[in-house]
Amino acid sequence: MTVATATTFDIVPLSKHIGAEIRGIDLHDTPDADTIKRLRQAWLDHSVLLFRGQKLEQEDLLRVTEYFGAVGPLGRPPKFFPRGYSRLLPNIMMISNIRENGETIGALPDGEMNFHHDMIHHDLPHNGTLLYSLEIPSHGGDTLFASGYAAYETLDPVIKAKLEGRRARHFYNYGSTIRNQGGIGATAQATHPVFRTHEETGRKAVYVNRLMTQEIEGLPQAESDALLEALFDHSERPEFVYRHVWKVGDLLLWDNRCSTHARDDFPSDQRRLMLRTTVQGTVRPY
Ligand code: SIN
Repeated sequence: MTVATATTFDIVPLSKHIGAEIRGIDLHDTPDADTIKRLRQAWLDHSVLLFRGQKLEQEDLLRVTEYFGAVGPLGRPPKFFPRGYSRLLPNIMMISNIRENGETIGALPDGEMNFHHDMIHHDLPHNGTLLYSLEIPSHGGDTLFASGYAAYETLDPVIKAKLEGRRARHFYNYGSTIRNQGGIGATAQATHPVFRTHEETGRKAVYVNRLMTQEIEGLPQAESDALLEALFDHSERPEFVYRHVWKVGDLLLWDNRCSTHARDDFPSDQRRLMLRTTVQGTVRPY
């Protein structure tokens, strides 16, 4: 039987607006209920948590995911496993550019990705995502996180007044990583408020993104395009962003309700392999 342990840990902010590293915790061990409560609060306070140097089995990753909510369903097991790996548990997704027998074994394989909220094109988007690194390229492939709270709080009041109470439509071509490029057909679309209130923190965040948001409902196309472009540029300002340079064994957890993330390009001839789980959504965005 596993004994749950009370753990003291340090919370070290990673940037002014978003992200904190949790130091002093080995997630291979099972923390007690109070430790989990404090981790959850750190996630709400900082939107992104980083745990370095973790040695996690897939079972550990699913267990850790559950500290933050119900594990989200993810289908599509790979047809092939990469060299050195022989299994993938349900509800874990491989994000990888590795190819076996000429086919990609993972999702979102190659290169740069625009900023996005995971699953915003569904009525009940995922609350959170966890990404655990197993193999990384020698350079590139950084993941960037932007604070939707900071973007909302500093937004031009004229733009804010125009958009308060409006909804935006989101659409995603599965596999697409750059706005209006690639992909293999829309899996779903949904509309949500342009500014989302986080149901647990009560704070408001900008809730549109460059990869998936198509239009602001009820506005002429040209006005909607101009406002979205202004929102994307504002939300991605470097001072709202934490750039994560990966090491093997890093686990990142982010809150999709109040942050977006993007990915840098990386060499296509180098392997990148991550395991990903999600935390299910609990309330419709409002
Ligand atoms: C994702 O957007 O879920 C993937 C990010 C990454 O590969 O760094």
